[in-house]
Amino acid sequence: MYGWVQKMISKTKMARYSLPPKFTLVFFLAIICITDGKYLTLDYYSKTCPKVSDIVHSEMESAMSSDPRVAPQLLRMHFHDCFVQGCDGSVLLDDTATFKGEKTAGPNMKSIHGFGVVDKIKSRLESECPGVVSCADLLALAAKDAVILVGGPYWDVPLGRKDSRSASFEKANTDIPLPNDGLMTLIAKFLAKELTPTDMVALSGSHTIGVARCTSFRDRIYGDYQYTSKDGVELAKLKEICPVKGNDDNITNLDYTTPTLFDNAYYGNLMRGQGLLNSDQELYSSILGFQTVGLVKKYAEDSLLFFKHFSDAMVRMGNVTNPHGGEVRKNCRIMN
Ligand code: HEM
Repeated sequence: MYGWVQKMISKTKMARYSLPPKFTLVFFLAIICITDGKYLTLDYYSKTCPKVSDIVHSEMESAMSSDPRVAPQLLRMHFHDCFVQGCDGSVLLDDTATFKGEKTAGPNMKSIHGFGVVDKIKSRLESECPGVVSCADLLALAAKDAVILVGGPYWDVPLGRKDSRSASFEKANTDIPLPNDGLMTLIAKFLAKELTPTDMVALSGSHTIGVARCTSFRDRIYGDYQYTSKDGVELAKLKEICPVKGNDDNITNLDYTTPTLFDNAYYGNLMRGQGLLNSDQELYSSILGFQTVGLVKKYAEDSLLFFKHFSDAMVRMGNVTNPHGGEVRKNCRIMN
């Protein structure tokens, strides 16, 4: 390993400075850690909280048996966490008189749910292994269980994230993709998190479950696509749920074909012009979609390929870490 590191370094300008061998090794490893979250490991809690995965899984199972909507809610919460300052539990922090968190930012307000479930999982973890498991890791594990419990793929979740001692209302408004973003903006927002267009198309497949509010899809159903992409019946139903004005919080399924099953039907919907959000349909219908159209077709045909790319992309999204480190919060809603 060390020889390999030395070889890499000797190929770079760093060799000129002839750093002491131990220092170069540490320096090189530090760069790897900071840039891609590789310090996360699969066995991070093997000694300190060996049952962490089982605990989160059983809590998710029980939460979902009383409310199946928990699955899409927690999957989305992990995404919104990772896109603001990295996956650091910042989305979970409550506002106080002196602190403004992310919960009231545009993409989250009235739209992110499931904080009670997070509290429940956290209190179980605190009673089993106090002060050990971060809220950010809890979210990453819960997102994986959410997907499995509705028929999606399994992946191993690298762990070891820390909870932030800050949040960013501003970044929640600027960094999280919006339903009316065009394809280039969507690609740019993912690239900013070091996620590729392939990651983006695969991760958008999350919209195979869950719901959107009228305010998120109104522009789509009364916009350019209305004549070409929605069949009359479906469109009429959507307009009933979501009139031109009012009823902003009425909801409908993102994937009208198999709304509670994690499958590849979402991509078939896009190929028929029936993506609910503008951002969904952009992946297939944008004239700039040369990187994305082929992927939509492939995932529509091959659910195993979708599952593989989705799992890989979830790990990569989970690797977007907050370089400033942090703590393990006792209560996910407040800093220690
Ligand atoms: C490509 C960019 C994306 C955009 C523009 C986007 C936008 C949205 C919007 C507007 C909603 C409906 C929210 C509401 O109306 O209250 C939604 C729901 C959802 N999103 Fe995305 N999203 C994107 C990517 C993702 C990713 C990467 C994931 C997960 C990895 C994800 C998971 C979900 C889930 C599961 C729901 C349903 C939530 C529920 O039922 O409560 N989305 N998304």
